[in-house]
Amino acid sequence: MSDAEAISVLGICGSLRKASFNHAALNTAIELKPAGMSVTVADISQIPLYDEEVRAQGFPAPVETLRQQIKAADALLFACPEYNYSMSGVLKNAIDWASRPPDQPFAGKPVAILSAAAGMAGGARAQMHLRHSCVFLDMHPLNKPEVLIFQAQNKFDADGRLTDDVARGLIRDLMAALARWTGQIAGT
Ligand SMILES: Cc1cc2nc3c(=O)[nH]c(=O)nc-3n(C[C@H](O)[C@H](O)[C@H](O)COP(=O)(O)O)c2cc1C
Repeated sequence: MSDAEAISVLGICGSLRKASFNHAALNTAIELKPAGMSVTVADISQIPLYDEEVRAQGFPAPVETLRQQIKAADALLFACPEYNYSMSGVLKNAIDWASRPPDQPFAGKPVAILSAAAGMAGGARAQMHLRHSCVFLDMHPLNKPEVLIFQAQNKFDADGRLTDDVARGLIRDLMAALARWTGQIAGT
C-alpha cells in the first residue's frame, strides 16, 4: 500500500453511458467507502479497439494512462455490466489493452466487483467471466459480499441515487471488505 493510513482504489466502469446504473453503483461505493480510502474513477472512454499492430508501436495515450493508474492503485473496483451473459466489450477491451506486456499492472492487485443489470441475476454471469480474467492476470478478487443489483432500472432514482437499502448495505460491506483484504494482501 502507498502508506499505512490511506488505501487508494481505482474504479473501472464497463459502461460509457452517462446514465449508467453501473456508474451510479460506483458512485454509491464512493459515497459508502470507509474512512481512510480514496477512490479515483478511470476514464476508459477514449481507449481504441485492441489492435496488436497498434500496440507494437506503443500504447495509445489513454491506455498508458490507465496502466499507470492501475500500477499506482492499492486496489481495483470493477463496475461490471452484463452484456449477453458476459462482461461488456468496453470493459474487456480496456482489460485486454492494459494487460499487455511488459509489466502487466494487474498482478497482485486486490479487487472488488459490483454489478447492476436489468435481469434477475444482477450481472452474476458477467462477474464470472470477469473473475476468469482475474485468474489469468493474477488479481485477487474478493469472493464476498456479492453485489448483484438485479432489475437495476427499479433501484435508482432519477438522479442516479441507489434507493435499495439492501444493495446499499452490500456495497458498504464490500468496500469495508476491500479495505481489510487490501491490508491482508499488503501484509499490514
Ligand atoms: C448488448 C446488451 C446486452 C445485454 N445483455 C444483458 C444480459 O445478458 N443480462 C442482463 O441482465 N442485462 C443485459 N442487458 C441489459 C443491461 O443490464 C442494461 O442495459 C444495463 O442498464 C446496462 O448497464 P449500464 O446501465 O451500466 O449501462 C444488455 C444490454 C445490452 C446493451
